[in-house]
Amino acid sequence: MKKTILSGSTVTGDLTLGNYIGAINNWKKLQEEYDCFYFLADLHALTVFQDPKILRERTYSFFAQYLALGLDPQNNTIFAQSHVPAHTELNWILTCLTPLGFLNRMTQFKEKSEKHEKNVNAGLYTYPVLMAADILLYQADLVPVGEDQRQHLELCRDLVGFFKNRYGDRILKMPEAHIEKLGARIMSLQDPLKKMSKSDENDKNFVSMIDDAKKIEKKIKSAATDSGSEIKFDVENKAGVSNLLTIYSVLSGKTIPQLEADYQGKMYGHLKVDLAEVVIQTFKPVKEKYDDLMKNRDHLDQLLKQGAEKAEARARTTISQVYEAVGLVPRLK
Ligand code: TYM
Repeated sequence: MKKTILSGSTVTGDLTLGNYIGAINNWKKLQEEYDCFYFLADLHALTVFQDPKILRERTYSFFAQYLALGLDPQNNTIFAQSHVPAHTELNWILTCLTPLGFLNRMTQFKEKSEKHEKNVNAGLYTYPVLMAADILLYQADLVPVGEDQRQHLELCRDLVGFFKNRYGDRILKMPEAHIEKLGARIMSLQDPLKKMSKSDENDKNFVSMIDDAKKIEKKIKSAATDSGSEIKFDVENKAGVSNLLTIYSVLSGKTIPQLEADYQGKMYGHLKVDLAEVVIQTFKPVKEKYDDLMKNRDHLDQLLKQGAEKAEARARTTISQVYEAVGLVPRLK
């Protein structure tokens, strides 16, 4: 039997090159070997203010991007979180097991509450518990994510331990994070000391997967580089160039030493021109497929329905077992 993978992306901002390299590219690589559940975290998006119309539109857009990037809805289960009520049901059970002290430690909560100081709501605080529910419902073995999700994965593993101590061993599976060595933290193009973020207000900081070629070229060419002129991987002293080399390496399959050798004696400008071309070629077919998919909402709705049905079947089994284990009376059929 194949092992299970689960991962998702919160439906906010624009899916970026960072999301692609840190997560979605790996989801694609793993989809043959594993039984994969990939989802649109639309409930998570509600932890910050959302315009309802934009959220709905963006959910279709993210879904179409997943498909255009090559995630196969026949072999995988691809769905929207809000279509499977068991996510919020398990969320409640786990919330009742989560010590406040564990949530107080979450660095993403601290960062986000500074950024959204007018809306520091309880959902933002308990967000990592919902994330644990997402993972545990599907009995996932592996969760491919970027570096920024490591702490949330640790909390999820703690919750499995708490559940096991209280209610028994065989109900929730202990998941492992899958974080690649290279590309797990792609940095902002203008400020390479900061993570590339899809909700960055300055869109020069990231490349979106559906940016057109001109935009991609402009953004990469204006990326901040470092003093000096040598093209060398050195995160401490050359954060900007190291970030560009990382992106180049993951997208082209060339190793970093190979790239350093190729660009020996060349200028930053050369690297940027070539990298822009690599990024453009990576996303060009994606953009074409994406535009096509977005023209047919009925098709997207049908695929979402099919995904929700497959997800629901697995999720229902887990939540029924959990309800029974914690002592809730089963409802007669
Ligand atoms: P999100 O939507 O912020 O990001 C989606 C995925 O992209 C990775 N990522 C990056 N990787 C490398 N460099 C970057 N600059 C970069 N930015 C983002 C993220 O690590 C993530 O893997 N809470 C999650 C969504 C979620 C989830 C889950 C993920 C909800 N439930 C259960 C896994 C399992 C989030 O907001 O990711």
